[in-house]
Amino acid sequence: MIKTLLAQVKQYKKATILTPIFTALEVFMEVMIPFVTAEIIDKGIEAGDMDQVYLYGGIMIVLAFLSLVFGILAGKYASTASTGFACNLRDGMYENIQKFSFSNIDKYSTAGLVTRMTTDVTNVQNAFQMCIRIAVRSPLTLICSLSMALVISLDLSFIFFIGMVVLGVALIIIMGSTTKIFNKAFEQYDAVNADVQENVTGIRVVKAFVREKSETEKFRKSVTKLYNMFCKAEKILAFNSPIMMMVIYGSMIAISWFGAHEVVSGSLTTGELTSMFSYVMNILMSLMMLSMIFVMLSMSLASARRITEVLKEKPDLTDPLMPVTEVKDGSIEFDHVSFAYKHGTGEYTLKDLTFSIQSGETIGIVGGTGSGKSSLVSLISRLYDVSSGRVLVGGLDVREYDMEVLRAQVAVVLQKNVLFSGTILDNLRWGDENASEEECIEACKLACADEFIQKFPDKYNTWIEQGGTNVSGGQRQRLCIARALLKKPKVLILDDSTSAVDTATDAKIRDAFKNKIPNTTKIIIAQRVTSVMDADRIIVLKDGELNGFGSHSELVKTNPIYAEMYETQTKGGGDFDEGGE
Ligand SMILES: Nc1ncnc2c1ncn2[C@@H]1O[C@H](COP(=O)(O)OP(=O)(O)OP(=O)(O)O)[C@@H](O)[C@H]1O
Ligand SMILES: [Mg+2]
Repeated sequence: MIKTLLAQVKQYKKATILTPIFTALEVFMEVMIPFVTAEIIDKGIEAGDMDQVYLYGGIMIVLAFLSLVFGILAGKYASTASTGFACNLRDGMYENIQKFSFSNIDKYSTAGLVTRMTTDVTNVQNAFQMCIRIAVRSPLTLICSLSMALVISLDLSFIFFIGMVVLGVALIIIMGSTTKIFNKAFEQYDAVNADVQENVTGIRVVKAFVREKSETEKFRKSVTKLYNMFCKAEKILAFNSPIMMMVIYGSMIAISWFGAHEVVSGSLTTGELTSMFSYVMNILMSLMMLSMIFVMLSMSLASARRITEVLKEKPDLTDPLMPVTEVKDGSIEFDHVSFAYKHGTGEYTLKDLTFSIQSGETIGIVGGTGSGKSSLVSLISRLYDVSSGRVLVGGLDVREYDMEVLRAQVAVVLQKNVLFSGTILDNLRWGDENASEEECIEACKLACADEFIQKFPDKYNTWIEQGGTNVSGGQRQRLCIARALLKKPKVLILDDSTSAVDTATDAKIRDAFKNKIPNTTKIIIAQRVTSVMDADRIIVLKDGELNGFGSHSELVKTNPIYAEMYETQTKGGGDFDEGGE
């Protein structure tokens, strides 16, 4: 895990190495200062020698100045290194997520990925900065101050040890219990994030079902839980400061007491005693800092683990070594294909499908919801890999193609289609970056989108909001079809893509397909029989199995499922759209 994370330091290696070096120099300078103070008091003030006061005063100023400069440099490099590291982490994750296949995406929730890219990275960034700066500073201060104290007075240092042990035990008890709570709190953060995400993306549904109150209640419960956890942790943490103060002042009193005796007896000078006070502060403070680092690190450990998971996730679809870069034609063949979702129930969604489609044919697919229609077509453009058997496009197994080439030639209008924020033209050009405006208009005419686009005041430059919320469902579907048409694909798949389009326009689109792109293989998934009945052949799916495959007239006679569907939808009572026809 550490290795994967550290690999992301990349160009910030120099800053990462320089930070601890400057921090160490800063500490050395700081530790020297109390020592020089002792000299000023003993050799200067006590002896009444002003020259010595000037000399050591001068040294002290130089030391303080150097410590300041090194501190600034260390701080500067620490922030460069840690922000750079965070930036690389985000970049790395984002890049890898782009490579994810559908099956990789199924594994993570959107909220989870968002938390990983934001909160988790910030946690790791802070921990990283701590590691290269404070985690170097505190132990060094501790060791240096302790050795200086030992040099000055062995027996007074004994008091430090007692103080350290008391503080150490207290810290272990406090930190141990808070770390556990903090870890749980971070998991709860995830839950809160997920709640917000779900609510905001589904706000329209929330309003339609008047669920505002219960949603607010649900959210309140979630945040109250988080609040309670933090309160509990903070309550325990609140003991930190009093215990710390108690130990520090206790040590000071003890040092004053025993130190004063030693000064009187002449085994210790006044200056040395003063510097001991500074060292006791230094030592106990760094012990405190160390314990905080420990908490921070253990808190960010979970974050680090979650980031590594995304960074290490291997896209489970990869291009072959020698990819084929040309799709010969639009013929499709399924050869004993079975398929199960990796992150699903484990049951086969598609079972032993065998059939072939000729290039240029129009194929309809019908079947009940959940019968596997969308799953079937997702195998053609290799959004998922088959579990067994083969899917062939243009006579070759889809796994032999370069994925980009395959997906350019097999255009799918997904059932859950989305538009992105940008103008209509921007969105259309997802299909072909270099498409001219005329080509875009042409595609829109084919998809019957031109008619409504012309009615917008800005026409093709109309701004589409994120998710395409400012166009109607049917308009969105038509734009998505046009976007796919711009790819000039050899195979065009429409997954329930005209479900929100009125029947007349639906028929018009199908007519346009027949006349304008006769050589493209067209696969149309629909719930309406009218959308598929004039296809060359129709596939009837039932529970992932091929129930029937033939033309409309054949199926009406031979396939009970299809016949019933046709019956209910055309003889009244069926689909609402068909009622008036
Ligand atoms: N990403 C997924 N992960 C796991 N299981 C899935 C996934 N997508 C679909 N399934 C399951 O696979 C089965 C077939 O789903 P599919 O989407 O292919 O049905 P469909 O015929 O397209 O249905 P509809 O007409 O409602 O669109 C369903 O039981 C569904 O629960
Ligand atoms: Mg579907």
